[in-house]
Amino acid sequence: MSSLQERIEALKTQALASLPKLSDESALNDFRVSILGKKGQLTEILKGMKDLSNEERPIIGALANDFRDKITDLIEEKKQELESSKLNAELAHETLDVTLPGNMHHKGTRHILTQTEEEIEEIFLGMGYEIVDGYEVETDHYNFERMNLPKDHPARDMQDTFYITEDTLLRTHTSPMQARSMDAHDFSKGGLRMIAPGRVYRRDTDDATHSHQFHQIEGLVVDKNITMADLKGTLDLVMKKMFGQDRKLRWRPSYFPFTEPSVEVDISCFKCGGAGCNVCKHTGWIEILGAGMVHPNVLEMSGLDSKVYSGFAFGMGQERIAMLRYGINDIRGFYQGDLRFLKQFA
Ligand code: DAH
Repeated sequence: MSSLQERIEALKTQALASLPKLSDESALNDFRVSILGKKGQLTEILKGMKDLSNEERPIIGALANDFRDKITDLIEEKKQELESSKLNAELAHETLDVTLPGNMHHKGTRHILTQTEEEIEEIFLGMGYEIVDGYEVETDHYNFERMNLPKDHPARDMQDTFYITEDTLLRTHTSPMQARSMDAHDFSKGGLRMIAPGRVYRRDTDDATHSHQFHQIEGLVVDKNITMADLKGTLDLVMKKMFGQDRKLRWRPSYFPFTEPSVEVDISCFKCGGAGCNVCKHTGWIEILGAGMVHPNVLEMSGLDSKVYSGFAFGMGQERIAMLRYGINDIRGFYQGDLRFLKQFA
């Protein structure tokens, strides 16, 4: 019998005898390394393989492989045995009271204004609009001049604001994004459809319905052959999505310097359906936004020929929409960060 064969057999006997006596994982690991490791006993024995004859080599090889497979399996088995007896020991001396209160995980929620904005964005994205971001610090040029409100125009008074310099101010509305988007758009590639949500500022006294800062969403579509029918169809669809399929829209003539004609749009009250209630102040209608056909001056100032191009625009207040939908009666709730308010919209 080859001496290698004897050594393997001896190693096997010795290994099988000591394995059951191992009592923890680190001893088991040492055991594994002492046999199968780089300097382990089996590895040492196999170094002698190169001196074997061609007839012996496969026989000893098979024997060694057999042993390696067997001992590897046994070590794995032993490992699991040790793990489960360790767990059983822990379970035996620890007690677990499943009736104790658990740890509360406080789940945050997006702000109701963010939710409102995203919902509106979703509707417009579905109609192929792009969403553009504007500047809260804006120039007099874009905020007023380009919106057809030249210096000393009386309508500027309604939007008195915070000036940083003579020509820089906190924007009073999102409308300057109309001019900025038209400037940036390549009309040779087709029309422009965008909405611009964002924060705006006015020098207002804060009370239940006014805030010196609030949020609007501007909308603008400019292309060839855009008519008031497009404006009506668009807003009809959007308002129905937001306030219910049986809403009716009412259009009243109005005035904005940057649109001609200008309208104010009311929706039939979603609470009483038009009969009159506290939400619609007993009129059956709720004023929801301002809109109109883009004034030719506004188009021309962006370098568009107002005989070729036309467009519609609208602007709505995010707080107003959220207040109506959720029956919020004080605008200050949006800004105070009071969890009792915010959590209602989780
Ligand atoms: N910029 C107006 C405001 O802040 C709202 C507005 C009205 C925007 C009519 C529009 C529009 O685009 O067509 O009061």
